[in-house]
Amino acid sequence: MKQSLKIFLGEILTDDEIKLMNRAFDVIGDIAIIEIPLELEAKKKEIGKAVLNFKHIKVVAAKAGIFEGEYRTRKLEIIAGENRKETIHTEFGCRYLLNVEDVYFSERLGNERLRIAQQAKEGEKILVMFAGAGPYPVLIARTKKTEKKNVEIYAIELNPAGYKYMVENVRINKVNVRCILGDVKTETPKLGMKFDRIIMPLPKDAGNFLDTALNTINEGGIIHYYGFSDNKEIFAEEVKKQCENLGYETEILDVVACGAYGPGVDRVCVDLKIKNLPRA
Ligand SMILES: C[S@@+](CC[C@H](N)C(=O)[O-])C[C@H]1O[C@@H](n2cnc3c(N)ncnc32)[C@H](O)[C@@H]1O
Repeated sequence: MKQSLKIFLGEILTDDEIKLMNRAFDVIGDIAIIEIPLELEAKKKEIGKAVLNFKHIKVVAAKAGIFEGEYRTRKLEIIAGENRKETIHTEFGCRYLLNVEDVYFSERLGNERLRIAQQAKEGEKILVMFAGAGPYPVLIARTKKTEKKNVEIYAIELNPAGYKYMVENVRINKVNVRCILGDVKTETPKLGMKFDRIIMPLPKDAGNFLDTALNTINEGGIIHYYGFSDNKEIFAEEVKKQCENLGYETEILDVVACGAYGPGVDRVCVDLKIKNLPRA
């Protein structure tokens, strides 16, 4: 959900100061996450208090860093409301318990998760790599088409905090997902099985794991591969080429821009069908 911040700031900021603020902010559960420009650092508590006027907001956190490191987490500073970083976020009927600082989660990707979940078909074996607090596997498991229809879902996450929340979210949402703590590189081959669909939501580094995904996909299977790019068609062709270099013939089923990453750069998902496995 995006909400317009300016409505409540008129009384505490001048027009010029308001112009410095970002137009929108993220809301995860009842926590608002906002960006305080350096020039307004001295007024952050007042800004935080104003944001508490928004419906359902109990905590206001200011970004104190960018998503970074292997776990893609970021520092946040509570500037108003209750002193906590854990919340329950509700999306498409699923509930996700998570600490917004300890595990990556983006509410902006909700529609993209739904797009993927709606493609899953009865009887599929599905692997969600880089699963975080579990929003992809839980939503896939809860989506009507796949619900209780013999779908097997496996999800791997490296961050122990993310894994802990994923296990909890699988329980809360009463779904059946096999959660695995560890590195996709080493844990995927240990499963000793092939998948019909593999989801790779690690846009910065997915390329390092493409061989792992290809080694584990069934002929005819689909890989949802994420990256950042300023040209989604070129990006899709590059991914196809990488697969070819590894001996796999693929077909691009779709290329979707699913959120801005930076000026002119989008998060992109390529849906790739694996047409032929390399001949031994
Ligand atoms: C961009 S986040 C996506 C999380 C989740 N899929 C979501 O959409 O909310 C990427 C996740 O991959 C995890 N990760 C990074 N490298 C990994 C690896 N080698 N094996 C397993 N998980 C990894 C990070 O800890 C992080 O939770």
